[in-house]
Parts: sequence; C-alpha cells; structure tokens
Amino acid sequence: MMNYSSRPPEEPAVHAQDLTVVRGPRTVLRGLDFTVPRGQITGLLGPSGCGKSTLMRAVVGTQAKVTGTLDVLGSPAGHPTLRTRIGYVTQAPSVYDDLTVRQNLDYFAAILDPGRAAADRRHENVTRAIADVDLTTHADALAGNLSGGQRSRVSLAVALLGAPELLVLDEPTVGLDPVLRRDLWQLFHTLATERGATLLISSHVMDEAERCHRLLLMRAGGILADDTPDALRTRTGSDTVEAAFLHLVDEAIAAGRTKETTR
Ligand SMILES: Nc1ncnc2c1ncn2[C@@H]1O[C@H](COP(=O)(O)OP(=O)(O)OP(=O)(O)O)[C@@H](O)[C@H]1O
Ligand SMILES: [Mg+2]
Repeated sequence: MMNYSSRPPEEPAVHAQDLTVVRGPRTVLRGLDFTVPRGQITGLLGPSGCGKSTLMRAVVGTQAKVTGTLDVLGSPAGHPTLRTRIGYVTQAPSVYDDLTVRQNLDYFAAILDPGRAAADRRHENVTRAIADVDLTTHADALAGNLSGGQRSRVSLAVALLGAPELLVLDEPTVGLDPVLRRDLWQLFHTLATERGATLLISSHVMDEAERCHRLLLMRAGGILADDTPDALRTRTGSDTVEAAFLHLVDEAIAAGRTKETTR
C-alpha cells in the first residue's frame, strides 16, 4: 500500500500567539500573532519606538515579562538548546576594540565551540565569517580602528560563526553607505536562498522592505500587516511599501476614530 504520511508540513521558524511584553509601566507589545517562515527574509518594519527591538529580544529569549505563546525553531523562546541555533546582532555593535577582527572572532568561536579538538573547525568558521562580511583585508586591524560600518560588520560576522539556522539582525544596515547596504542585502539573500537560513531583519528604512520576502509592519506595539511586499502594494493600491504602510496607518487611525464615536 502507498504511504501517504510524507513529511509533515514544515513548521515556521517563529510562531507567536497573543505575544505580549510589558516593559516598566508600559505594555510595549500587545497580543501579537505572527509567523516567520523558514528559509526566507522577513523584514520587521515600523517607526522608532514601535517595539521592533523588543520583539527581537523576545524571539532570542533575552526579554523579561513575555506572555503568550512564542515558539522558535520548534522550542519555546529562550530554551537553552536554541542558543547555538540562533545568531543575534543587537542594535549597538558589541566588539572588543583592543582585539583585531580575527581575534574578536576567535574569542567568540572558542565560546561557541570550545576545546582543542575543534581548533581547525573554528579556524575555518572564522575565516568564512570574515569573508562573508567582506572584511578579509581588515582581518588583522584592531576593531577600535575600524569605521562604524566595518565594526557593525564584525558583529554580524560573530553572529554568522556557528552557521545559525535563524539570524535575528536589529537594524544591521543603519549608517552604512549605499554600496555596503547593497552588498549586505546580497549576503542576506545568499544566506536565505543558498544556505537555507531564516532571517528576521529590522529596519525603519522602507526601501529595504522591498528586498524582503515577507514583511511584518508594526506600529505602536501592534502588527499592522503580515504579508509579502507585492501583496501589500496590491492590497493598498500603492506603488511602494512606504505608501502601503502610510495607507495602513491612516486606515488604523480611521478605524480607531470610528470605535471612539460608536462607543
Ligand atoms: N526599560 C524600559 N522601560 C519602559 N519602557 C521601555 C523600556 N525599554 C523600552 N521601552 C519602550 O518600549 C517601546 C519599544 O521599544 P523598542 O526598543 O522595542 O522600539 P524599536 O521599534 O526597536 O525602536 P527603534 O527603531 O528606535 O530602535 C518604546 O516605546 C520604548 O520607550
Ligand atoms: Mg530598536
């Protein structure tokens, strides 16, 4: 008899249901439902203060006071087994200024994959990560002597070290020139399409939204839309994602007003 029980449909990389986060006196994420599909680039976009970094911290498991359901790569967010499967780059690059690029990476590689036996593998991973972010010619420069864009690429290289399944990048292209931004987006696409990685990338530059497979548009702790750039433009009759976003904001404000007046 034929066996119809083929592989189960692949679960998303991130699945959130009623995700709520309280910071200090404020509820900064309000009952969010969303998924992040595997092997794709999902852009997290929205104005400053809308909750992008908070959402990312919840996904990587460093955010306190998270309620609701949040599953990451099949385990609850923050589960210890996820540590080596997720690469996270925070908004403020964290590298040691008094170490060279290669020494910085050697240090983090040793934490990730300790022991003498792993030395060759570490060397290979470090060399690959430096090449990925295009810093091979600067491998022996002190991190403290690099430009802002170069330093942020060292942070990105650290996140790439363990070839993580999920990369969470908080505004990785802020302050970079157009050429570097283009090169980094090329790398992000290579990571997704050739290495099968899942990328969750925040930005408040709307033109970067066009380069994502999917978008989560946020505003004031909520999700305005979870769709592809094409579908968003079509649905709102807009030429750009930026115009689509503004259309959705106006719609949300109008809906809020209606609620007020019918109360
Ligand atoms: N420790 C805290 N206590 C209270 N409120 C906080 C705290 N940290 C952040 N917030 C608030 O949470 C909200 C979301 O912040 P978050 O850093 O997630 O926004 P963001 O979308 O990443 O902004 P940006 O684009 O500026 O990085 C903001 O309104 C901020 O004021
Ligand atoms: Mg932020």
